[in-house]
Amino acid sequence: MEPATSPLPVVILISGRGSNLQAIIDAVAEGTLPVDIRAVISNRPDAAGLQAATRAGIATAVVDHTLYKERQAFDQALQARIDQHQPALVILAGFMRILSTDFVDHYRGRMLNIHPSLLPDFPGLNTHQRALDAGCEIHGTSVHFVTADVDGGPVVLQARVPVHVHDTADSLAARVLEQEHQLYPQAIRWFAEHRLTLGENGQALLDGAILTEPRQLSATAEKPG
Ligand code: GRF
Repeated sequence: MEPATSPLPVVILISGRGSNLQAIIDAVAEGTLPVDIRAVISNRPDAAGLQAATRAGIATAVVDHTLYKERQAFDQALQARIDQHQPALVILAGFMRILSTDFVDHYRGRMLNIHPSLLPDFPGLNTHQRALDAGCEIHGTSVHFVTADVDGGPVVLQARVPVHVHDTADSLAARVLEQEHQLYPQAIRWFAEHRLTLGENGQALLDGAILTEPRQLSATAEKPG
């Protein structure tokens, strides 16, 4: 694999804890993820992830959605903030806002999200409890390109986790989260290395081939960079 010539400029959007953000920061610090995190932007001033960014010396900003009456106005303000940094990729890492079509279209093919279920199963909220309620034996997490269809864009990479008999939503969430911290850096690495793109017809392409099914993390164990 050829090394990327220069790190890809990215902006990361968060709303809360920021453990996926931290996993990305760590991968960059370890030299296994060729991105330049230009800024971390939160819609919530109290998001713990902002502190993680500051600790890592990354610029932060808050675009507080409660200060905007209309979703469109919030999205426009957010877009302006993001575009100041000219990112080649926008990374949603626990960003808990539904985005307008104009916003999503603006970042078509250059915005990724991580969602805690094996999409297309369980889009939306409370995925772990819903997987338990449905009696799933296997649950997991997915990285997908963002489209106007909430949690419905083409899925690129997934990790599966077993559901244990005595699992609660919390214990299952913890098992999934551990996988997310491997999964997201891997998918972002593909994008940063220009291996992962969104095709004209809306399908994800990896190394130029249509991903008819998402790749599975266990099957993608490869030396980064
Ligand atoms: C993760 O479970 C992610 O899948 C979902 O939101 C959660 C964010 O967690 N989109 P964190 O803030 O990265 O710790």
